[in-house]
Amino acid sequence: MQRLEVKLPKVKNTYAGYLGLQQLLSAQQLQTGSDDELLFIIIHQQHELWFKLAIHELGCAIASLMKKGAHEADCIIAFKRLSRVGAIQHILISSWDVMATLTPDEFFLFRETVGRDGASGFQSVQYRILEYKLGLKYRFLAFQLPDGKTQTVDVFDNAQDDDEKGRLRDALAAPAIYDAVISYMARALPKFGIANPRAGDYSRKYRKNTAVFKAWSYVYRNRTSAPELYQLGEKLIDLEDAFRKWRFAHLATVSRVIGGNPGTGGSSGIKYLRAAASRLFEDPIYPELWDVRSEMFSRPLQFDLAAAGYGGEAGE
Ligand code: HEM
Repeated sequence: MQRLEVKLPKVKNTYAGYLGLQQLLSAQQLQTGSDDELLFIIIHQQHELWFKLAIHELGCAIASLMKKGAHEADCIIAFKRLSRVGAIQHILISSWDVMATLTPDEFFLFRETVGRDGASGFQSVQYRILEYKLGLKYRFLAFQLPDGKTQTVDVFDNAQDDDEKGRLRDALAAPAIYDAVISYMARALPKFGIANPRAGDYSRKYRKNTAVFKAWSYVYRNRTSAPELYQLGEKLIDLEDAFRKWRFAHLATVSRVIGGNPGTGGSSGIKYLRAAASRLFEDPIYPELWDVRSEMFSRPLQFDLAAAGYGGEAGE
């Protein structure tokens, strides 16, 4: 059993002290007399806390899979970490039921005050880091303005300080969970000659790859030959599916709370969010895992690799 370093505090270890409850419970600073603002703050704060844990768990899963000589046991440990991320995502999805109890007339009373300087979830640094860990890599983000024009923002500009900017930069440059899974798969199934299309520069957008697709197709058609990869593939689908559901639940809640009004972050509001949510289907995070589904139901010659966007890279 691994021995852990222990850091004992100088003061008595009480429940409130250990959990930092004084800081935590005094971090809800209402800016209006509205009885509904506390709900708004707490839902956002719980998101940020769960984002923090999900980012940590993804980091552990990535480290397990990218460990030198990682084998089946490391894969199973990574799987366990990813299951925890999935459970967190489900809490966040169901938290929209609480947010949706905020009615437009209630929000109207404090929205203008809290959003007066353009504050919006759009500026959440941890949300971007979570996307980076899941595998959505980009630095500049185009969004639609209320007049239909498009504006591009540098997401690093949302960092509060250099430390936060550094965390964004590191997460963008580091391997995401899909990179780690591909690196494990390349070793577990050498016959496919897999080379991660993003290796060398993990900050790039992932492009689908023929060798990776063929390896997943093999795993799904022969699930007893690499059961740990089969499980991992389905776990990644769970994560991406939950990520989409969170985005759609956000969109649905925004629609019922502010209707067709622009966002406090400057976008066109639901128009922008709807376009962003449907892009998640057009351009998936783990494209080969979705293409395997299309291929599974077409007779062998009907799945056209070229038409599905696969080029002539190695592994064909
Ligand atoms: C009544 C509650 C909410 C409303 C009306 C709302 C509204 C919006 C709108 C209109 C946008 C588009 C950007 C803008 O112009 O501001 C946005 C983006 C965003 N919101 Fe919310 N939101 C709500 C709750 C939340 C909560 C609880 C979170 C959790 C952290 C959140 C996270 C985000 C994120 C991460 C984005 C950026 C999405 C992207 O990159 O496309 N929102 N929100």
